[in-house]
Amino acid sequence: MDLKEGWLDRRIFSDAEIYEEELYRIFARSWLFVAHESQLPKAGDFLTTHMGEDAVIVARQPDGSIKVFLNSCPHRGNKVCFADAGNTRRFVCNYHGWAFDTGGELKGMHEEYCYDDNDIDRQKNGLKQVSRVGSYKGLVFATFADDGPSLDAWLGDFRWYLDMLLDNEDGGTELIGGCIKSVMNANWKFGVENFVGDAYHAGWTHDSGCRSMNNGEPFPPIDMENSYHASVNGHGWEFGTEGVGDLFLLGRPKVLEYYEKIRPQMAQRLGEMRSKIFGSVASASIFPNVSFLPGISTFRQWQPKGPMEFELKTWVIVNKAMPDDIKDEITKGVMQTFGPGGTFEMDDGENWSNCTTVNRGVVTRHERLHYRCGISRQIEHDTLPGIVYRGQYNDANQRGFYQRWLDMMENDKLGAMPNRPEPRLTGVGDTRDLPGLFAL
Ligand code: FES
Ligand SMILES: [Fe+2]
Repeated sequence: MDLKEGWLDRRIFSDAEIYEEELYRIFARSWLFVAHESQLPKAGDFLTTHMGEDAVIVARQPDGSIKVFLNSCPHRGNKVCFADAGNTRRFVCNYHGWAFDTGGELKGMHEEYCYDDNDIDRQKNGLKQVSRVGSYKGLVFATFADDGPSLDAWLGDFRWYLDMLLDNEDGGTELIGGCIKSVMNANWKFGVENFVGDAYHAGWTHDSGCRSMNNGEPFPPIDMENSYHASVNGHGWEFGTEGVGDLFLLGRPKVLEYYEKIRPQMAQRLGEMRSKIFGSVASASIFPNVSFLPGISTFRQWQPKGPMEFELKTWVIVNKAMPDDIKDEITKGVMQTFGPGGTFEMDDGENWSNCTTVNRGVVTRHERLHYRCGISRQIEHDTLPGIVYRGQYNDANQRGFYQRWLDMMENDKLGAMPNRPEPRLTGVGDTRDLPGLFAL
């Protein structure tokens, strides 16, 4: 790996030992997305998901807080919940009937008399709690790491960008219509790196899909002067500044109209610059394994299932305040573009699985990969936080993503990892109150 010069080692996409290390060093130590608050509105609501390959339950508690614990019984390890989501009072293990409450505490056992007094301490034999849980404007994250950065520090200056998705209208966001799962024979990083910065593939890979969706019109042109890559500790957003790119690609004129209507409020809320970035041709990823398309409204997570397989979970993200017919239009648009049967999704999956299998060749794997596009176009920008490069056709965010990957793989201590770049925003709280970031 030589990220300063833009070269990548192909073995990171298939090597079994590197993959095991990723599970320990990346997935067991990062803040990972586990739920959107809107998925768990009431006490007793739960969903099951994975942190890396570890199965977990995310559950709303009677006091309104959210707990995350392993979905694995401390007796013999069976799953205690096989449902994707629901509402319950107890998780009861199929094997010997141990029962846990929604906080993960052991509450009862089948034929309890078979245990003598000192055989078991119920307090200590609940479902293993995940160390820390936090949320940022509706997105719930959890980490197995006891120490290391807070969630606010982890997201850092990327919160300035995230607010365009999560806070562009009063009331925040919600995920609607359930979750779609699909499995691809590809390394999980190909999905993330594509969304973190690969605008370059879009006009080529998705040319026919774009024309079929939009009366024969090609992909919107890229303005290399007024488009950017911005990267913060592996999170990244690539974007234009004209406000109508992704919103056009969604293929739903009513949705475009809706955003045009709320854009003046968005400008008041988030500043002129962000109101123009939102809806442009753009894509983004949150390190390590979440991506979304602001304006197309797909929100997704790439769950690793071995070095050469991932499960893709996708949702539709909308503003709560939107009228139902707009939410409906967005849902249909997402299904036609980035659902598993969507025109764009199918193009991408084939490329990623071919990259994964071909990179594995015993000779091929020793040839480095080229990630140098735009390597000398870094700029300082008064308004845009993060490491910023000019020109949307660029590998800058991909280099930033793999740099964070390398920082985590190489550092035994989370506290020893460098900030790339040093944060501009300080403290916890509303990124709208931070001075100096509004002016165009
Ligand atoms: S494995 Fe769960 S009760 Fe035995
Ligand atoms: Fe794509």
